[in-house]
Amino acid sequence: MFPFNYYAPTKVIFGKGTEQEAGKQVRAFHGTKALLHYGSGSAVRSGLLGRIKESLEEEGIPYVELGGVVPNPRLSLVYKGIELAKEEGVDFLLAVGGGSVIDSAKAIGYGVANEGDVWDFYDRKRKAAGCLPVGAVLTIAAAGSEMSNSSVITKEEGGIKRGYRDDICRPKFAIMNPELTLTLPDYQTACGCTDILMHTMERYFTNGGNMALTDRIAEGLMRTVMENAKILLKDPQNYEARAEVMWAGSLSHNGLTGCGNGGDDFATHGLEHEMGGLYDVAHGAGLAAVWGSWARYVYQDCLPRFCQFAVKVMGVPAVGTEADVALKGIEAMEDFFRSIHMPTSFAQLGLSPTKEELEDMAHKCSVAAGGKKGSAKVLYEEDMLAIYKMAAQE
Ligand code: NZQ
Ligand code: ZN
Repeated sequence: MFPFNYYAPTKVIFGKGTEQEAGKQVRAFHGTKALLHYGSGSAVRSGLLGRIKESLEEEGIPYVELGGVVPNPRLSLVYKGIELAKEEGVDFLLAVGGGSVIDSAKAIGYGVANEGDVWDFYDRKRKAAGCLPVGAVLTIAAAGSEMSNSSVITKEEGGIKRGYRDDICRPKFAIMNPELTLTLPDYQTACGCTDILMHTMERYFTNGGNMALTDRIAEGLMRTVMENAKILLKDPQNYEARAEVMWAGSLSHNGLTGCGNGGDDFATHGLEHEMGGLYDVAHGAGLAAVWGSWARYVYQDCLPRFCQFAVKVMGVPAVGTEADVALKGIEAMEDFFRSIHMPTSFAQLGLSPTKEELEDMAHKCSVAAGGKKGSAKVLYEEDMLAIYKMAAQE
């Protein structure tokens, strides 16, 4: 077990009707004028946005609005938000939506609190000195941005998707009403469950020191998400299953399932980010499409962890060689992805990238990572290319 810092400052308000609290929470965190940030229409159609406005009005908090955030949120809208927030003297960012909206709000928060081009932070050129406070009303269980230190933005020019991590962007509060996720399309529910699983898997497949307690929490979380993803496939209106998945989404990416592991892997995320940037695929689906190829490429360098995953998470009998057990665990996870209609190859994702595109993604992936990425196995550009090629062949 390695030493670790665990910092999860976000106040969680969980349960039915909790969105009514939004105005009170903005006030409690000293917001006097809010930017109400949202997506491409679901929050308007469901009436949620109207309820949030009422709760702000009840608290006497003035607000300006900026909707139109799309999945793989765009830098151009971030710039627009920064300008608007500065013009209007906004001091609190209220994100109503999923990871894309929350990430866009975080980026606006960096842009308002720092001089210069906000993209510099995502481009690894400099570090942010501050961020405007962000609060979230979550509408999809997936990215975990409501408690995470991360923000992922896509620069349209060149299709470059980059993440920036800093504790200063962690939301002040997260309002989570599982009922708000009942309107999700099945595909988004499955993408979300995949992303939640992956956030813990990225912390589980490491060659760091590990901690038994962290492992048991991680294994329980992964089994719970898989069980409830299957329930939601048949019964999307199941509140209890929505609640289990929603809370798992936050715990999976707030650092809890990585305590003591000495460093995350996150190579599958790095590989997916290039796919999202270039092809605008849904994040969870992109992860599922490349994970099996990544796992087969790296498992021999991280055999004990892949065996443990196979037995404790996927229920594979511990019979045969370690490599046999590990491979069965990988197959079982891919079977699970397919069972919830997630792709396990580029072709199933509807993509047929050219050799040049694969090379371009591998190059950008290695640049984004500063040359190398991973803990289960350290990957360089040629490894990234090999994994993309495997995913393109399957
Ligand atoms: O824009 P609207 O109309 O709301 O539609 C959204 C969007 O099309 C829809 N949706 C959300 N809530 C809904 C709903 N539709 C019906 N009913 C509801 N209640 O779902 C679609 C996806 O929304 P999005 O916010 O993009 O989903 P998600 O939460 O999966 O976020 C994905 C983004 O987060 C990034 C991803 O890379 C991607 O850009 N990530 C952010 C992380 C972080 N900040 O910590 C970590 C992750 O690993 C991830 O990289
Ligand atoms: Zn993710």
